[in-house]
Amino acid sequence: MAFQTLTPQEAAEMIPNGATVGTSGFTASGTPKVILEQLAARAEKEHEAGRPFKINLFTGASTTKHVDGALANANALNMRAPYQNTPDLRLRINSHDAHYFDRHLSELAQEMRYGFYPKIDFAIIEAADVTDDGEIILGTGVGNIASFARMADKIFVEVNAKLPKSLLGMHDIVLPDDPPYRREIPIFSPSDRIGSPVLKVDPRKIVGVVHSHEYDGVKPFTEPDAVSAKIGSNVVNFLLGELRAGRIPASFLPLQSGVGNVANAVLYDLGESTEIPPFQMYTEVTQDSVIELMKKGKCTFSSTCSMTISDQVEEEIFKNIDFFHDKILMRPAEISNNPEVIRRLGVIAMNTALEADIFGNINSTHVLGTKMMNGIGGSGDFTRNGYISIFSCPSVTKGGAISNIVPMVAHTDHTEHSVDVIITDQGVADLRGKDPVERAKAIIENCANPIYRELLWDYLKLGKGGQTPHALQAAFAFHVAFNETGSMQNVDFAAFSK
Ligand code: COA
Repeated sequence: MAFQTLTPQEAAEMIPNGATVGTSGFTASGTPKVILEQLAARAEKEHEAGRPFKINLFTGASTTKHVDGALANANALNMRAPYQNTPDLRLRINSHDAHYFDRHLSELAQEMRYGFYPKIDFAIIEAADVTDDGEIILGTGVGNIASFARMADKIFVEVNAKLPKSLLGMHDIVLPDDPPYRREIPIFSPSDRIGSPVLKVDPRKIVGVVHSHEYDGVKPFTEPDAVSAKIGSNVVNFLLGELRAGRIPASFLPLQSGVGNVANAVLYDLGESTEIPPFQMYTEVTQDSVIELMKKGKCTFSSTCSMTISDQVEEEIFKNIDFFHDKILMRPAEISNNPEVIRRLGVIAMNTALEADIFGNINSTHVLGTKMMNGIGGSGDFTRNGYISIFSCPSVTKGGAISNIVPMVAHTDHTEHSVDVIITDQGVADLRGKDPVERAKAIIENCANPIYRELLWDYLKLGKGGQTPHALQAAFAFHVAFNETGSMQNVDFAAFSK
């Protein structure tokens, strides 16, 4: 290899205060492991010496303890986008130490190319291998690295010894031209390959190669709890109804599924159903449960931005990589989450909400309207453009102190105009073709927990008319009751009707 080998410390020393850094990876997988951890250690020393030290960090989506965790802990993040899910970073964001802005994942890379944000100084790329002429076999996540590498002045490659070179062929790297020269994205089936199996970078920009030796550290899949299992079976029963009614074709449609317990439970139930035919995914994350479905022949292909899989499953895939080679294709977020392709393929979008309101609006990001949880991720890309857009959540949280169905969401990520179906452990509200009051009735009756149903009916009666009969004086009464008393059940709508 023609490139200089650097230690992580040497690489970190080259990144100055105020630099803008872009990394490979998506929802943890494929994120560099060692340079930014050293940069965090350096920032701590700089802070101890009384000197400022922060960087701007752009990624594909969430990262790991080695990146967001370490940098947030060291208070070394200035600007940060697009998605994150690290507890330390959440604290920095909610106290404004880190300036986080939350964009749809399909959009960030093009917005960087358009010059909306600071220019990328350094790209850090996790790789299975790099050739002397700058051809890189990426790891288990792509994210926005193709754009970052094109824009960066300097590139570090972290070659991870855990990644086999046989990953070659599992990536599809392509960048659309920018307007007014952009053409169609010619993906007509999830498995259509349109780009290069390697990321090609200008080798003159590679300032060094750093070695690492670690899996992504994604937590293993846990068995769904009772509530997630109920939500999962409600989602599958809804999809079966659509299939029987002919609204989903007999050959089925590609699925997108979020991460987490509910998503795993849905995928598990899909796998168990004998009526649902083998299907493909056009999604942003491919997790352990999808790998199980592939082994059973139930999921035949996944177009994705990352393999967000636990270390054990990662090891298993690498051992049997021939089996998975023609079943998984990792693409840049701009393509995996592309609205044009999602709309064309008829993707069934299944995402998770923090709360839904009785009129069908969704809050995915802000706990009680103020505190950032993770970010919108790709949920907007898929929800707005999906064939059917489903949101699920438990009917209650924190032992019943919080109703996930509220009069008005305290922050809106997805509006009633994009959301087709809401599903909780209680049941399914199909919102298609319903006016706001009809939607409210379906959501209260089918999705709200029985301990909150009467309160929600009381709220609906408070409204004094209009197409969407909110009672604005009481719209956030659930949230206020929780903040003041510790439970939404203590809301008193009688006080508002005087
Ligand atoms: N109000 C306040 N807190 C709430 C809440 C509400 N309405 N709903 C959930 N919570 C709390 C839970 O109690 C839990 O708290 P804890 O960490 O103290 O236990 C926490 O929020 C997470 O809830 P959980 O039910 O475990 O959520 P999850 O892991 O299924 O994640 C989202 C739900 C919405 C946070 C997550 O799906 C997300 O970030 N979505 C946006 C991104 C996205 O959709 N991407 C596309 C697919 S990858």
